[in-house]
Amino acid sequence: MKPISELIKQKPWLGWLIFLGTIVIVFLLGLIASSIIERRAEAVFAYTPMVEHEKWEPRLEVWGKNFPRQYETYMQTADTTFVSKYNGARKIDMLAKAPEMVILWAGYPFSKEYNQGRGHMWAIEDVQNILRTGSPMTPTDGPMPGTCWACKGPDVPRMMKNIGIAEFYSSTFAQMGPEVVNPIGCADCHDSETMALQITRPGLIEAFQRQGKDVSKSTHQELRSLVCAQCHVEYYFKGEGKYLTFPWDKGFTMESMEAYYDEIAFADWTHSLSRAPMIKAQHPDYELFRFGVHYDRGVSCADCHMPYKSQGGVKFTNHHIQSPLNNVANTCAVCHREDAEKLIANVYQRQDALQETRSLLEVTLAKAHIEAKFAWDKGASEKQMKNVLKLIRGAQWRWDYVAASHGSSFHAPFESARVIGLGLEKAQEARIEITRVLASMGYADVVPMPDISTKAKAQEYIGLDMKKLNSEKNEFLDTIIPQWLKQAMEREATYPTKNI
Ligand code: HEC
Ligand code: HEC
Ligand code: HEC
Ligand code: HEC
Repeated sequence: MKPISELIKQKPWLGWLIFLGTIVIVFLLGLIASSIIERRAEAVFAYTPMVEHEKWEPRLEVWGKNFPRQYETYMQTADTTFVSKYNGARKIDMLAKAPEMVILWAGYPFSKEYNQGRGHMWAIEDVQNILRTGSPMTPTDGPMPGTCWACKGPDVPRMMKNIGIAEFYSSTFAQMGPEVVNPIGCADCHDSETMALQITRPGLIEAFQRQGKDVSKSTHQELRSLVCAQCHVEYYFKGEGKYLTFPWDKGFTMESMEAYYDEIAFADWTHSLSRAPMIKAQHPDYELFRFGVHYDRGVSCADCHMPYKSQGGVKFTNHHIQSPLNNVANTCAVCHREDAEKLIANVYQRQDALQETRSLLEVTLAKAHIEAKFAWDKGASEKQMKNVLKLIRGAQWRWDYVAASHGSSFHAPFESARVIGLGLEKAQEARIEITRVLASMGYADVVPMPDISTKAKAQEYIGLDMKKLNSEKNEFLDTIIPQWLKQAMEREATYPTKNI
């Protein structure tokens, strides 16, 4: 065959044909590319607005009219059927599973009821139902402050705009009851005009400010974790105004938060058996996650808990926030080649290992509290017990730091194991010290242990009247909650929402 240049020399029209042909092909390719880009942009931004609503509209179903895919998948967080080895979407009665926890929280509301959480759609109902929030029959009844609602839904930023942040926190739980009725939703994470991710919780913004950082300058990938860090973090209620504060000023390690609390001599409560000044760890999910390899490699919470989903050629974010083990193909398997069975086994292996030492710490700590009480009853002095109480405080902080973060044995297995290991050492030290104190008073026997083999027995031992607590709660649920919901519905009916 002749070279193309010679062919063109013989037949010049052929050159023109190739030239024009190339132009047409390039033009068509351009059209395809632009259509693909446009479609992708459409998938994210272009939607047919069906409704116009206020910036702080708290109702998920109103936003849902504009974004049906995200709304429908988000509603699936109400599904409680999925069960994994330790977690899943159902409510788990943790005190029944490990009655030692009743002892660990003696004198604190957690000893009444503590459940492993379920999906976001349950947030309001669960906080109303739980015995910890008591049964306030009037707006000024305690025991809980408004702060308790802070991580429960988009009515919170709405009310903070209305009445002020400090005022929200220093109100009572019951005063905010008729206001906070919509579970965690769209306005908690999104700007209603641009749909961009936004941080709505002052606690996170202020914690960053004190570290000299501006949370609004975070990268897009950082925001895909930081929206979760508004709630899935360690925090405490600061001072009389119960101002929600993240103890991050000294850093993100377990030790730096303990140092923060020690410096201000903070205690959530005094333990009713051991009399130790205790710290209740909340759920340092984000903080512990920062010590895992996935955080190190730039993986975000949303990558595993909110994977992409395709439906009718449209790719969008699956808002069914849940255990990734219920959807391994679209979560882990996006990055890992192994089959689902193996990946799940990897998770369980880490969880089993941590559970083993964590349970050991639970049992050891419960014994330490009971033995400390025995020493007090025998007449031990404040001076003799000082070091014991310090050790118990430190040991339980370490236990709770990991126990309260349900995902940490997978998110950061080594850091979690390190913290539990340090807790075990302190709990054993405390028990040795108590033995010394008892010996100095002439008691050399083993301290007798009560029967705490079930939740009911443990609760009876620490003096809780569960019958009374439950009947008060039932009355509150039957009379007050319907009033709160009625008030809320009447208020919401006046919002200027417009169908278009
Ligand atoms: C406004 C506060 C808030 C925000 C923001 C938030 N969560 Fe939650 N999350 C909660 C609360 C409260 C619960 C427990 C609800 C219950 O048990 O009633 C929960 C429960 C969960 C659960 C357990 C659900 C199950 O089915 O096992 C997972 C997983 C979870 N959240 C992940 C996330 C992720 C990932 C993000 C960020 C994309 C996030 N959350 C953002 C407050 C929040
Ligand atoms: C806990 C935080 C959180 C809540 C609550 C939430 N979203 Fe999202 N949403 C996200 C994240 C994270 C993304 C992914 C954003 C990204 O990577 O750009 C997202 C993305 C979106 C997008 C962009 C398109 C897409 O699918 O990626 C829309 C639209 C959206 N959400 C609508 C909603 C609506 C409607 C609700 C309420 C029913 C809602 N979201 C509730 C965190 C949340
Ligand atoms: C967005 C990508 C991404 C996703 C999604 C992801 N991983 Fe990973 N994973 C990584 C990277 C990167 C590493 C670091 C190891 C490496 O660089 O090869 C890693 C490491 C690991 C390791 C070894 C480190 C350790 O913790 O011991 C395990 C096990 C693992 N992943 C399991 C999972 C499972 C299970 C899931 C789903 C729940 C998952 N991964 C989801 C990217 C991902
Ligand atoms: C690499 C994947 C991955 C990333 C990234 C990740 N998680 Fe998880 N998460 C898991 C796995 C796996 C579990 C264990 C689920 C189980 O046991 O069913 C889990 C468990 C949880 C749980 C407890 C779930 C339950 O059923 O009670 C919460 C809450 C949670 N993660 C929140 C977060 C938050 C917040 C972030 C970001 C700070 C995050 N996760 C980042 C994989 C991930």
